[in-house]
Amino acid sequence: MAILFVSDIDDPVAWRRELEKRLGPLDFRVWPEIGDAAEIDVALVWRPPRGLLASLPNLRAILALSAGIETLLEDRSLPDVPLCRMVDESLVVTMREFVLAAVLLYHRDLDRYEAQQRRAVWHMRPPRPASATRVGVMGLGALGRPVAEALRDFGFTVRGWSRTPKEIEGVACFAGRGALAAFAGGCDVLVNLLPLTPETEGILNAGLFAALPRGAVVINVGRGRHLVDADLIEAVDSGHLRGALLDVFREEPLPEDHPFWRRPNIRITPHVAAYTLPESAAEVVAENLRRLSAGRPLLHVVDRMRGY
Ligand code: NAP
Ligand code: GLV
Repeated sequence: MAILFVSDIDDPVAWRRELEKRLGPLDFRVWPEIGDAAEIDVALVWRPPRGLLASLPNLRAILALSAGIETLLEDRSLPDVPLCRMVDESLVVTMREFVLAAVLLYHRDLDRYEAQQRRAVWHMRPPRPASATRVGVMGLGALGRPVAEALRDFGFTVRGWSRTPKEIEGVACFAGRGALAAFAGGCDVLVNLLPLTPETEGILNAGLFAALPRGAVVINVGRGRHLVDADLIEAVDSGHLRGALLDVFREEPLPEDHPFWRRPNIRITPHVAAYTLPESAAEVVAENLRRLSAGRPLLHVVDRMRGY
């Protein structure tokens, strides 16, 4: 079985090593050194160039190195073979750490102390219990659910929002568009962990910000196109929102002249909230390669109609 690896951020040497540990020697090709395109059975990819996968005539499966697969679905020439997204503990662990750190930053007023430091102001702010901060998580899937549970276990008051109803102990769950404003009304911190689909694009907009309590914070670790950039700037500049922490952007890297860079209450990280580590994530890829060889159904196949 020949595998084509395509990514400009993942390490092909580590991926080959971890897959061969589990499966033995592999015909592992790293784009752009494809060899004979007709020999490629499986593509293991992060944001491949548009049209590349359509040029592999005997492709049998596409395995994403990422949880989000919107750029693959936007490639109109994407071959009609199973497309599997990444679901792995390394993504869960790193996302949980990142969101907890971000929520704690605001809960313990570190943003305000940073602003005080710029003016050499010594002003103590008495800490409040974690339960006094209400955190809302949009998306309760492979990442959103464990994030909500970790926030709950830390003592925060947690609510979640998803497309279909959920029951999570100690988390107030809301479902569907009709419940979005009611969900938002109780979020001091709003964490976006939705997939990017036609239904969720632009969902972090002026209407949703208006439904948040005054002084709320937005943490976007989903995708840049969930956010209407101008609406965030307006909500932050008007003082309705206390601030935002953004890990993902419409254009990445974020262009140097983007106004987000110069807003003191907008924090920017370069798409690092969660990582797919080959040391653990090779397991699910190896399992899918075994299943493909044996003609068994693959794991984590994307529902193309639903878009995630
Ligand atoms: P997932 O398991 O597919 O979960 C998606 C969740 O979103 C589900 O709970 C789903 O509801 C909900 N959802 C989807 N469409 C919705 C809608 N229209 N309205 C309300 N809820 C909706 O995805 P995941 O693995 O948790 O990943 C989520 C996203 O995180 C990825 O798609 C990616 O964009 C982002 N991500 C970012 C980073 C980073 O480093 N910044 C890293 C990894 C992933 P149901 O449960 O009802 O289906
Ligand atoms: C990263 O952003 C991912 O979707 O895995």
